[in-house]
Order: sequence, then structure tokens, then C-alpha cells
Amino acid sequence: MKISVIGCGYLGAVHAAAMAELGHDVIAIDTNKARIEALQRGVAPFHEPNFENLLKRNYSRLTFTTDISKIRESRVHFIAVGTPQAADSSADMTFIYGAFENLIPYLSGGDLVVGKSTVPVGTANQLSARIAELEAHLIWNPEFLREGFAVEDTLSPDRLVYGVPEGIDGEEASRILDEVYESILERGCPRLIMNSSTAELVKVAANSFLATKISFINAMAEIAEVTGADVTQLADAIGYDSRIGRKFLNAGIGFGGGCLPKDIRAFMVRADQLGVGEALTFLKSIESINLRRREQVTRLLKEELGQIKGKKIAIWGIAFKPNSDDIRDSPALSIAHSLAAHGAIVVSADPMAWKASTEQIPGDADIGFHSVIQDHITAVEGADALVVATEWDIFINEDPNRVGPLMKSKLVIDGRNCLDSLVWKSAGFRIRGFGRLY
Ligand code: UDX
Repeated sequence: MKISVIGCGYLGAVHAAAMAELGHDVIAIDTNKARIEALQRGVAPFHEPNFENLLKRNYSRLTFTTDISKIRESRVHFIAVGTPQAADSSADMTFIYGAFENLIPYLSGGDLVVGKSTVPVGTANQLSARIAELEAHLIWNPEFLREGFAVEDTLSPDRLVYGVPEGIDGEEASRILDEVYESILERGCPRLIMNSSTAELVKVAANSFLATKISFINAMAEIAEVTGADVTQLADAIGYDSRIGRKFLNAGIGFGGGCLPKDIRAFMVRADQLGVGEALTFLKSIESINLRRREQVTRLLKEELGQIKGKKIAIWGIAFKPNSDDIRDSPALSIAHSLAAHGAIVVSADPMAWKASTEQIPGDADIGFHSVIQDHITAVEGADALVVATEWDIFINEDPNRVGPLMKSKLVIDGRNCLDSLVWKSAGFRIRGFGRLY
């Protein structure tokens, strides 16, 4: 089948390559020339495991271009552009509306437009009305991929959600989309058909739930810290209850990234607009717990070092999560900035994200400074403390006996509760974590 994908960011680029893997001929469009040139050469513009292999393997079925007129041949058009956070925290819909208007001149009767982007509830109904007279179909088909597992999640999703807008022939539109996803469906992937408002809500509800789970356990960590309890043991114990589950109950410096933080904020704004803002006031607490946990690093360092100004702090990690070079809304980066603003000399190290942030930021308190390097061992040289902010395997598996002698004092703050405390303690380290007993 001939397919087009509009938008070659994280979502669109992976989706385009995955659709080629399913055997379709794919035209992928983006306005960013450098990104398109890289993708056309088989080079991934971001770090994502297995993505480059996928690009290279499906080279013959993939065309990346900035020329939108090339989509004329396609019968199915995926919209995968970003919906970044606007100044008022709502979703900025500029790229969605722009992509849609650019697509309209090339749409024929019977074509299917498939929305993948995360949008405010009501968007698909509004866009569908715009193409009503062209007799083209629209389905909202949200994407649930996780960075670091984007290829796997796109090719083997947990479920496929089809959201049918008002006035659309849902049967015909679903039949076409079933044809696109034929091999995924044949492997038994559940497919749920619902109206488009429900489908739009499914996506933001899923992200709100995940954010809530993380902030819940981080709230428990706050309680554990003043009661002498251990949050990891607590998470293990409640996680055995299959109604609760152990996943997304890792306490630490909290969630970041390009989705969870902005999606819950945009959801709150949309609920306000709809007059039901009160239903989501709990998300405000979820966000404030999340931001409060970042401050805990500064508090722990003050407790341990007396003062932060003039101290050298090594931070392992800048990416918002391991196996990614994404630094959007990264807790690790926000902590680095905050420590520099307190006058610390901060050296961050990250095996991948260092390229995304080779910044040299002077802090606010006279001597504070933040620099970013790749090598985590160089970062600890002469450091008064080490903060583990992203749980990359190379950090978890590092030998503290190699790290300790390079540091000025053997202090580690485990921001992801990911280190083997016995090993670090036996190497002479003092270790502090989040809601942990050591
Ligand atoms: C998320 C959703 O998981 C995905 O379904 C959606 O499509 C996009 O947003 P992603 O942004 O890739 O995916 O990251 P995710 O794995 O959900 O982690 C988000 C943040 O939560 C990371 O900063 C991670 O470190 C943090 N996290 C996760 C915790 O602090 N504790 C946990 O137990 C789990």
C-alpha cells in the first residue's frame, strides 16, 4: 500500500520506517531539510535503539522529502507532527493545522487520513468537518510508544485504538486502516474502535495515569523519609498485588521527557476550557510532587556538604531516561541548572545526550557553572559529590572502587534508587537516595 507520513520527528520517523517494515511504500515529509537529508541517508537524527537498522533494512520502500506534493500517490496519510507546549500550557496546534491544510489539496475521495499526534479532545471532530465535502475519511489512532523502545512498541503495540469522528463512515475507514496494520492484527494485537473523542482521551488518560503512578510512589518516598521506612520495599510489597502492579513505581527524581509533563498540563487546560477543570485538579498535585523531588537533591547535598556554593558536583546523566538522548524537560538537566544556580561547579556526563547539550552555562551565584561531557569517569575527578540522575546501565554497573579514589569525598546521591548500595558502601561511599534506608 502507498502511505504518507507527515512529520519526521520521533513519532513520525519511527512510524514511517515501521510502516515500510510492514511492506508498505512510504513517503515521509518534514519541513526540516537537515533531518530529511539525514533520514534519506539512513542516519537517525536521534538516538533510538534499532531505528537505524530499520531505516537501512527498508531503504528501498522509504522516501524522505520536504516536497509535500509527493504524497499525491498515497491513499493513506498519517499525521505525526508535534503538539508542543504553548505559553499558556495548552497544546500548540500550529503544526497539526498546518499539516492538515497542506495535505488537503492532495486528498482524493476515499483517502484515509490517520491522526497519530497527541491532541486536545475534540480535535478530530473539528478536522473531520473540514474535509467532509472531499469524501475522505479520518481516524484518530493515538501512538503509545516509549522512547528507547519506539521500534518495538510501533511494530508490536499492546493495542491499536481507532477513533472515528462524527459523520465518518467508521466501517470503511477501519477497513482501510486494518489493511495497513494487517500483519500486526494477524499476530493478535487487540484493536478497539470507538469515537474520536474517546480515542483522544485514551492517550492523555494513559499518560496521566502513568504520571500519577510515579508521583504516588514519590509521595510515599517523602513519607518514608520522615518515618524511617523504605520506599523500594514498599513498592515491591504493593506491586505484588496484581491490581496495582510493580511497573512505574520506581521512586526518585521523577518524570520528564517530551510527553508526560506537557500532556498532563495540556489536559488540565483542556478540561478547564470544557468547564470540568475540577476533575483534574489532582494532576496539579501530581506535577508539584514531581517538581518537588528535583529539589530534594539540593537538600540532600546541603545536609551532607554544609553548603553547595563552590563545591564540585558530578552528575551522571542528562537524558530524561536511559537509552535516549532526549533532554526535553529532563529532571537531570533541571537539577544541574539548579545546583549551578546555587554556586556549584557542575559537570554532567551522559553517554548519548551529551551531544544534545554541550552547553557551558554559568550559574547565578558568582562562581556556579555547568558543563557537559561524555565520559562519566572524567566527570567525577575531584568531585565533592556524585549525583546519579539517569539510570544508564554503564552507571549502574560502574565499579565504585574505580570512582572513589578519583573523588575528593566519597558521597553519592542515588537519584534513581538504582545503585547496589552494599557494593557502594563497601567501597567506602556514603550513599543517600530517595525514601531509602541504607
Ligand atoms: C511516555 C509513555 O510511557 C508512552 O506510552 C507515551 O507514548 C509517551 O510518554 P516516554 O516519554 O518514552 O513514554 O517515557 P517513560 O518510559 O514513560 O518515562 C517517563 C519518565 O518517567 C522518565 O523520566 C522516567 O525516568 C520516569 N519514571 C518512569 C520514573 O521516574 N519512575 C518510574 O517508575 C518510571
